[in-house]
Amino acid sequence: MIPQSFIQDLLNRVDIVDVIERHVPLKKAGANYSACCPFHSEKTPSFTVSSTKQFYHCFGCGVHGSAIGFMMEYGGMNFIEAVNDLAARVGMQVPVQQPEFRHGMAESVGQKTENSSQDLFEVMNTATRFYREQLKHSVNAIAYLKKRGLTGETSARFAIGYAPAGWQNLAAVFPAYQSKEPADPLVEAGLVIESDDGKRYDRFRDRIMFPILNQRGMIVGFGGRVLEQGEPKYLNSPETPLFEKGHELYNLFSARKAIREAGRVVVVEGYMDVVALSQHGVDYAVAALGTATTPYHVQKLLRQTDNVVFCFDGDNAGRKAAWRALENSLAQLVDGKSLSFLFLPEGEDPDSYVRKFGKEAFEGLFGQALPLSVFLFKELTARTDLQTSEGRARLVQEVKPLLALVTAPTLALMLLKRLAELSGASQGELEDLLQIRRISSSPSRARAPRPQPASPYRWLMQILLHDPGYVRKLDRELLVRRSEYAEEMAAVVALVEFIDTYPHIAENAAIPSIITYFHDSPHRVLLEKAESETLAWDDTIDLEAEFSGALARLREIQRKQRMTELHSRSLSAFTPEERQEYQRLMAS
Ligand code: UTP
Ligand code: MN
Repeated sequence: MIPQSFIQDLLNRVDIVDVIERHVPLKKAGANYSACCPFHSEKTPSFTVSSTKQFYHCFGCGVHGSAIGFMMEYGGMNFIEAVNDLAARVGMQVPVQQPEFRHGMAESVGQKTENSSQDLFEVMNTATRFYREQLKHSVNAIAYLKKRGLTGETSARFAIGYAPAGWQNLAAVFPAYQSKEPADPLVEAGLVIESDDGKRYDRFRDRIMFPILNQRGMIVGFGGRVLEQGEPKYLNSPETPLFEKGHELYNLFSARKAIREAGRVVVVEGYMDVVALSQHGVDYAVAALGTATTPYHVQKLLRQTDNVVFCFDGDNAGRKAAWRALENSLAQLVDGKSLSFLFLPEGEDPDSYVRKFGKEAFEGLFGQALPLSVFLFKELTARTDLQTSEGRARLVQEVKPLLALVTAPTLALMLLKRLAELSGASQGELEDLLQIRRISSSPSRARAPRPQPASPYRWLMQILLHDPGYVRKLDRELLVRRSEYAEEMAAVVALVEFIDTYPHIAENAAIPSIITYFHDSPHRVLLEKAESETLAWDDTIDLEAEFSGALARLREIQRKQRMTELHSRSLSAFTPEERQEYQRLMAS
């Protein structure tokens, strides 16, 4: 555990421009520096470094972080290693202390792991080599893979292996297997299980092993399939310091080039689907690892390509999984990017389909994929009877929470227009009814000198990130009432709480970006987006005016909301105070 105050000193001391410059030549561009992004391939620079706020952001692929973040992402270090590296450069001694408190933000500042990630990666590599070697000697495993139609070449390309039956096979390559060190990397890497009475045994036994690579191409986990019958069919690595299921996608690392060339990625459900597709020449498939598609997945994919096709089985379970994916995608969508949903004929999965009909036929199906907006209304209208007013009202209410997630302005507008068609209400009526910001396509608005953020919460986030001192002028009442921007409001609340917890932050307008401390926070993505938008600010920005602008819009939202609350009740039931309040609200 590294004290938060030390991280702040460190970030004050190092200059992110120097840190990055060592690896990537930077050019001055207005108030910032820019370069071609080292994290994705591009010809025009969209990687931007702010020397005032000490963070980097790529407008192309979305990477975002502090000097520490850069050393982690670019240098392949873990948090502690990155801190040590930077501290050594500026001659600071890293103190180590016991956890201050075990909740909230301080935890995300640094977790002391017993083994360095380097040790754990080493363990995973050794295990992979062992499993691959074992595959060569297992007649049954080879026969199984042959039966599933895999060639030796494909198995080798995916580094597929075999974990033999028996309880302690890994002891053959890990001499310390039984040494019972308290912090055994084998246990921490999820390969070995320690029972309550201290006995150790292999997690994966008699299974086909699929190594899972992270985005840097390092092995972070395994999926293990039973050969014939058995439960569970697939056993996956547990969550470990290397492996976070909701973040990784099977085959994303190896598929990157193919995704770029094809201009699309196809997301399938299973390991075998990915492998079979690849054997038949569809190299741009990835799979979530036994979890639903998460927002992180979608965000990662949209960094790679503008075109994501989810491919699901045509059965009920497939439709459910597709709907989950849709819900988890809405907030990530950006205009100009397309998400679509492909449902295979009943009884087929991508593996069986491509083996029967081949690559051409599989790719031919993409033409039938449903764009997200079509799938959304298709599902919702199937559940309601649009012939009745009640049915149409229900449709409007069901779209409301989904639409609230969409920040892409054009898509939001299109969804609203479609909802207007289906419900019979006008766009204006819907905007009032749903209390969504006016979605306007009028060009005069788009050409405003500085476009205002989509929501006042986003606006507040930008201001507070830029100068945390504004927290002192913030009317906290404005953060109480729930609004349609629930997620953004939660992010603002977290930000305010953090600044409150460390009051000296508010005293330093020039403080390096504080998003570093939100590394593991669910609000990180929103905060990063908000911060990246401040890169366009220069010295002419009038922060006072921005701040009062944001507050005014917040008050307006809250006023509308209160009005709706009052409207929903009968006027005769008002207390005298409410009657007065109502008149006041109407007048303002
Ligand atoms: P499926 O059960 O649909 O199987 O699991 P599949 O991919 O068609 O597998 P094969 O063809 O029978 O080998 C889809 C995915 O769900 C996860 C795995 O990632 C699997 O690839 N899964 C499934 C698990 O994690 N655990 C399970 O027990 C089953
Ligand atoms: Mn299958």
